[in-house]
Amino acid sequence: MAKRVGILTAGGDAPGLNAVIRGFGKTAIWHYGWELVGFIDGVRGLVNDKTVDLTGPALSGILTVGGTILGTSRDKVHKYLVDGEPQDMIPTIAQTYEKHKLDALVMLGGGGTAKNARRLSDAGLNVISLPKTIDNDIWGTDTTFGFATAMEIATDAIDRLHSTAHAHHRIILAELMGHRAGWLTLGAGLAGGADIILIPEIPYTVESVATTIRARMQRGSTFSVVAVAEGARDTVDWADYRAAKDLVETAASAEARRAAKAHLQNVELAQREHTFKLARELEAATGLESRVTILGYVQRGGTPCSADRLLATRLGAAAADLVDAGTFGVLVAAKGDGTAPVPLSEVAGKLKLVPETHDWVETARKVGTGLGD
Ligand code: F6P
Repeated sequence: MAKRVGILTAGGDAPGLNAVIRGFGKTAIWHYGWELVGFIDGVRGLVNDKTVDLTGPALSGILTVGGTILGTSRDKVHKYLVDGEPQDMIPTIAQTYEKHKLDALVMLGGGGTAKNARRLSDAGLNVISLPKTIDNDIWGTDTTFGFATAMEIATDAIDRLHSTAHAHHRIILAELMGHRAGWLTLGAGLAGGADIILIPEIPYTVESVATTIRARMQRGSTFSVVAVAEGARDTVDWADYRAAKDLVETAASAEARRAAKAHLQNVELAQREHTFKLARELEAATGLESRVTILGYVQRGGTPCSADRLLATRLGAAAADLVDAGTFGVLVAAKGDGTAPVPLSEVAGKLKLVPETHDWVETARKVGTGLGD
């Protein structure tokens, strides 16, 4: 009998979501002869049973389209907010799954989605997740769809900022996305030839950044471009952040954990404007006028680049093969030129951060890029 498979997109959007829907959908419908049910707005669609039939025509013309035709949200299956109160919606979701007589559920998303997928898999649903994020921080996969496109956008922005920084003899700080991991800032910073790259994994000091800029000035370069990840911190902020995070990790009771989490949120909030603070400090330390450009959501929007379209199509088709083989409770990871299923129990809750000895970090040091340490 033909299978019925549900599909949804969850978490922050990323270029390539529609390309995966198409890659999975075309393989499911044309190669395997299955029926496809799209859930609207991620987990919300599962909870409220909001669906759309995904037939062949719905999958045409979406390869190049940004965003997601299914919509998305950032809900948690076990702490779903109803009138501001967290509720466990796993039983409700299981009912929706049964009602639609699904054989499998395919979830496209990042780290939060991998955790949701694991919870649903533990509850007995046949779940497969696919690695989406411009941050490239999902554990267990070589790369994620969305990352290559965001790199292109961010590199182009750094290129453009170079000419205006040069013309005005300014420091320009380009803030890139990446709240925990610095892959995007490091990759685009290297590709765009940023003079200094600041990432969350390597706490910086203002003095170190200023020293790199002054050394450039002595060599005759009266401008500098600094690529800063939104999650980068100076050593003082880093110590405050670590201390707040340790409080959460060591909290002895649920109440203490709640209080520690609220404190951590406040610390993160207070550190949010760090790129503007750094700009003021660098202006004072070097005498060069400083400006900030926040790239923000531009990095997540628009057409996926060819590398992401190819990756998305390969991952989507591979996910359909795993459904056919009855391999569930896994993330479809990109591995070299191929793909491989990685158990969600190994992936969920882990982040792939930039190792301090990573080739990109060492390359940056060799070509004289300041890393702020
Ligand atoms: O996960 C990707 C990401 O773009 C992060 O880099 C960023 O901090 C976050 O999403 C912000 O997304 P939103 O504002 O949609 O929650």
